[in-house]
Amino acid sequence: MRIQAAVVESRGGPFTIRNLDLEEPRPDEVLVKITAAGICHTDLSTRAFWPRLPMVFGHEGAGIVEAVGEQVTTVAPGDTVCLSYRSCGTCGQCASGRTAYCDAGITALNASGTRTDGSTGLTLMGEGVYGNFFGQSSFATHALAYESNCVKIPADFSPTLAAPLGCGVQTGAGTVLNVLQPAAGSSLVVFGAGAVGLSAVMAAVAEDCAVVAVDPIASRRSVARDLGAVAALDPAEVPDVAAAVRDIASDGPHYAIDTTGRSAVISQAIAALRQRGTLALVGIGKSAEFDIMTVMAKGIQLRGVIEGDAVPQSFIPQLIKLYEQGRLPVEKLITTFPFSDIEEAARAAAAGEVIKPVLTLS
Ligand SMILES: NC(=O)c1ccc[n+]([C@@H]2O[C@H](COP(=O)([O-])OP(=O)(O)OC[C@H]3O[C@@H](n4cnc5c(N)ncnc54)[C@H](O)[C@@H]3O)[C@@H](O)[C@H]2O)c1
Ligand SMILES: [Zn+2]
Ligand SMILES: [Zn+2]
Repeated sequence: MRIQAAVVESRGGPFTIRNLDLEEPRPDEVLVKITAAGICHTDLSTRAFWPRLPMVFGHEGAGIVEAVGEQVTTVAPGDTVCLSYRSCGTCGQCASGRTAYCDAGITALNASGTRTDGSTGLTLMGEGVYGNFFGQSSFATHALAYESNCVKIPADFSPTLAAPLGCGVQTGAGTVLNVLQPAAGSSLVVFGAGAVGLSAVMAAVAEDCAVVAVDPIASRRSVARDLGAVAALDPAEVPDVAAAVRDIASDGPHYAIDTTGRSAVISQAIAALRQRGTLALVGIGKSAEFDIMTVMAKGIQLRGVIEGDAVPQSFIPQLIKLYEQGRLPVEKLITTFPFSDIEEAARAAAAGEVIKPVLTLS
């Protein structure tokens, strides 16, 4: 079928809306008409280096199922769905409910640019276009997804709110609710108050934690305070960030979450934590240098986290419930843009002017 998609045609180049052809769903695939798509920082950081071009990104889609392959049983045409990450469903990790750590690896099924057989289902004037990003490539009017990354949601739930649940919100909230599981009254510092960090702030506040946020962008610190953080620090203004965090959370926080992927920030988190504190590493980065003896002497646990350890089919409905109870005010993070303004939405996100851009499609 003929669709429209935002195609990246050169490394780090702009999103350009093109008419593409999309294959019919294969037996294990689900054709989804996309009604909203969030832009995650990962779309933008991946676009900057991605070598397999042209490529369609997008991994926070929401929409309506239009058709399903013959093996698909858990969703049907007409269902409203939120799209998330893909997992194999059969390996040991998937079988034990750890789908985020699927033995296939997050890259093979989510960030190879193709189906497992090397095809993509997308063509531009007969030439192949890479896609299958997180088993969706949802910067498009239609996407092919899989049962493992389709989550049925109530038909009357706003697609604009649903879309970012599939990655950014799930990752931040899941890091708190599924991984750290803080007791009420414990303290937690979040480094980076973007969509992921602020979702962690919301979840931790909902769990009655004392939350400190750290971010150089004033508007994001202000949202963190509005969401209930007890303090929001500007790392550029505070001479010793770790000491400032420790001043607020006496003895240092029980938990820290890094969403920046920056080596210096990870060291600040380690220095800020109390004895036997836990640091969740969520921000994408290449490498970090930190003081081994500090980690050892404080008995700190370092925990890498993918997608908040969430099994989307159970966690996304849980997030929707929290939203409906007023405990996860996701709307405070969202700015909508028409799909045709995707490049402007990406620019505004990269510039820190908006937190979670969500593209709307009719
Ligand atoms: N692990 C996962 O499964 C997963 C899932 C989604 C996103 N991510 C990654 O998580 C990260 C956060 O995503 P996002 O969408 O919130 O991105 P974002 O860019 O909106 O947020 C990052 C924030 O870090 C802040 N920052 C920069 N320097 C800082 C410093 N020195 N101290 C404190 N804060 C600083 C930025 O101002 C920004 O607000 C990205 O790296 C993204 O790729 C990981
Ligand atoms: Zn993401
Ligand atoms: Zn698996």
